[in-house]
Amino acid sequence: MILDVDTGVDDALAIALALRHPEVQLEAVMTVAGNVSLELTTRNTLRVLDWLGATSVPVYAGAASPLLGIEREASHWHGTDGLGGAQLPASQRASQPDAVAYLIDAVTREPGQFTLVCTAPLTNIALAVQKDPRLVAAVGEVVLMGGAARPPGNVTPVAEFNVYADPEAAAIVFQQPWRLTMVGLDVTNQVLFSPSERDALSANTSREAVLVREVSRHLFDVRGVDTMALHDPLAVGVAIEPDLVTTLQQEVRVETRGELTAGQTVVDLRPNAPPPVLPTRVCTGVDAARFKALFFETLGLPFSSTATRA
Ligand code: RIB
Ligand code: CA
Repeated sequence: MILDVDTGVDDALAIALALRHPEVQLEAVMTVAGNVSLELTTRNTLRVLDWLGATSVPVYAGAASPLLGIEREASHWHGTDGLGGAQLPASQRASQPDAVAYLIDAVTREPGQFTLVCTAPLTNIALAVQKDPRLVAAVGEVVLMGGAARPPGNVTPVAEFNVYADPEAAAIVFQQPWRLTMVGLDVTNQVLFSPSERDALSANTSREAVLVREVSRHLFDVRGVDTMALHDPLAVGVAIEPDLVTTLQQEVRVETRGELTAGQTVVDLRPNAPPPVLPTRVCTGVDAARFKALFFETLGLPFSSTATRA
């Protein structure tokens, strides 16, 4: 597995799930500007990997701005450091340059071997496709957290952040003839982590428990949110267990010009919709309890579904 992240509170948890799952070999993590700057998303990614003992997993820094350069960020949600104010030690190692070159080289060297899981604006992926279209046939499959087949969005009435932050890049990614799964807000908003579940971890001193507690500090203790959606971890979960979700095969088009609708992922859900030329697996339903059990159990954290109902 290769991850493409903008760490990011939920990106951090996605990295933890990929690292700890026995069926996943996390080959590398690429970073991009998104929730916060490239410098911070890269620094945060190194901190999370090193905190979890994965100092041998390389981090490749990618694009510092979207294709058209209009920067959008989400520090109001992820905290100014982008990691929710987590008190985690700084990493002692550096990232590698040029995520785009790394991705092309790794995937074309071993065709069909890699699953690419994207939990960020899709700038790196679009740049890689433009630089070397062979990437599309060489990658095993792409699973991305992004979009919303049905409104609402989360940054506008119709747009989800990862697509909104770089609509042109998303349009390029959805137009490729690869095996692609869209894990949108339709399903990620159903996998919620609650303050009571976080409180249940308070006495747990494992690295994973500390990570979960620390990255959720800003959201729960500062913003006082009721729940936190596990957007990015679900994309990793779907890559591991595709039957966690129900899907439909349909074209996904991205609005790039709309004054009110820029960043909307437009999916033709009409009963008589024409068959897709470039089908994307669009997630429409999720077994939320089963995913949460997978997430917490893989991280070695106690999980009782009753805690969710509490
Ligand atoms: O809309 C949710 C997505 O935007 C997640 O990937 C989160 O990390 C933010 O980047
Ligand atoms: Ca993210």
